[in-house]
Amino acid sequence: MTDPVEGGRRDSFYGRRKGHTLRPARAGALSRGLDAYALDLAAQSPARLADLFPDPVEQVALEIGFGGGEHLLHRAAEQPEVGRIGAEPFVNGMAKVAAALDAAPRGNLRLFDRDAAELLDWLPPASLAVVDLLYPDPWPKRRHWKRRFVSDINLARIARVLAAGGLFRFASDIPSYVDWTLLAIGRSADFEWTAMDADDWRQPFPGWPGTRYEQKAIREGRRGTYLTFRRR
Ligand SMILES: C[S@@+](CC[C@H](N)C(=O)[O-])C[C@H]1O[C@@H](n2cnc3c(N)ncnc32)[C@H](O)[C@@H]1O
Repeated sequence: MTDPVEGGRRDSFYGRRKGHTLRPARAGALSRGLDAYALDLAAQSPARLADLFPDPVEQVALEIGFGGGEHLLHRAAEQPEVGRIGAEPFVNGMAKVAAALDAAPRGNLRLFDRDAAELLDWLPPASLAVVDLLYPDPWPKRRHWKRRFVSDINLARIARVLAAGGLFRFASDIPSYVDWTLLAIGRSADFEWTAMDADDWRQPFPGWPGTRYEQKAIREGRRGTYLTFRRR
């Protein structure tokens, strides 16, 4: 792919791939989970994305950086008619979700264990109804802001794969990241912010189950901001 933004980085992953060593049972679940659920980007993406899922699904959503998978697994159970792809390069997060899927398999879920930018470039155009980016790595220091997942190039990637009217949902507890995202959206002709009043960004998204990162932020005295953008 040619970078749509001059000087834009192709890769978007700066975080940790590995945490503590996995116990053998977890490692086994991870291996089985990746065998059963991981997308193979060496294959051509299907023209109809719903064909990726064993269960019949009406639309497809992507969650970027699902962490421990709290939101991903909750939504997958709550909305069996939605096919869901979860992307997470952090092995321990992926292993946690794999263990949950070992106990309760899901035919409406697929996984991707590398940089979500690679997946975005593989997906067919206008193939997704929702892209969730929930509490992305904050990179609060100014000199690290360029590492944030939200960038002009990644917004262009998300815009390419979202169907018209599809939603890009972003949550963060870091005010400078919220401002950063609103400025990037303002530079893009592809999205409109759906907020009508302050409750729309102060209240979590409908049916919000919370995430582990969010709970930590709340414990430390920070509040989340919830932004919903619509693909024009
Ligand atoms: C701050 S954590 C939040 C996790 C989860 N969404 C939550 O709210 O608990 C951000 C996650 O994004 C993942 N991440 C960072 N860069 C990514 C990328 N380029 N593609 C996919 N995931 C990424 C990290 O590995 C990390 O697990």
